[in-house]
Amino acid sequence: MLGRVNHVAIAVPNLAIATESYKTTLGAKVSEAQALPEHGVTVVFVELPNTKIELLEPLGEKSPIAAFLAKSPDGGMHHICYEVDDILAARDQLVAAGARVLGGGEPKIGAHNKPVLFLHPKDFFGTLIELEQV
Ligand code: CO
Repeated sequence: MLGRVNHVAIAVPNLAIATESYKTTLGAKVSEAQALPEHGVTVVFVELPNTKIELLEPLGEKSPIAAFLAKSPDGGMHHICYEVDDILAARDQLVAAGARVLGGGEPKIGAHNKPVLFLHPKDFFGTLIELEQV
């Protein structure tokens, strides 16, 4: 079911500081910031030769990463995103196996204009998993 790692996401308390650190201190190529109100985050992508890192900052009152940052105020790894060929087939297979799909189970359009789903971290060893159809 799983293909490549599409990205690893890191929640940060201040996106401008994190962007500058990745650019200047780590010497990485970083995209422009992109607000995703439907997901409650502002995001930038760090472009690496083999994958991407997504830096996430809370956007709005009901941001899903606000609670995460309340527990980890310095920031931290938030989720890992795996590519799948067919997100609905993947979802059905996972649900049949007893895994919990967040948000009612219908894919949303993610930061790359592709359908995404999130899987409950308690079902996968404490790690929030995002699936992206590519
Ligand atoms: Co993501």
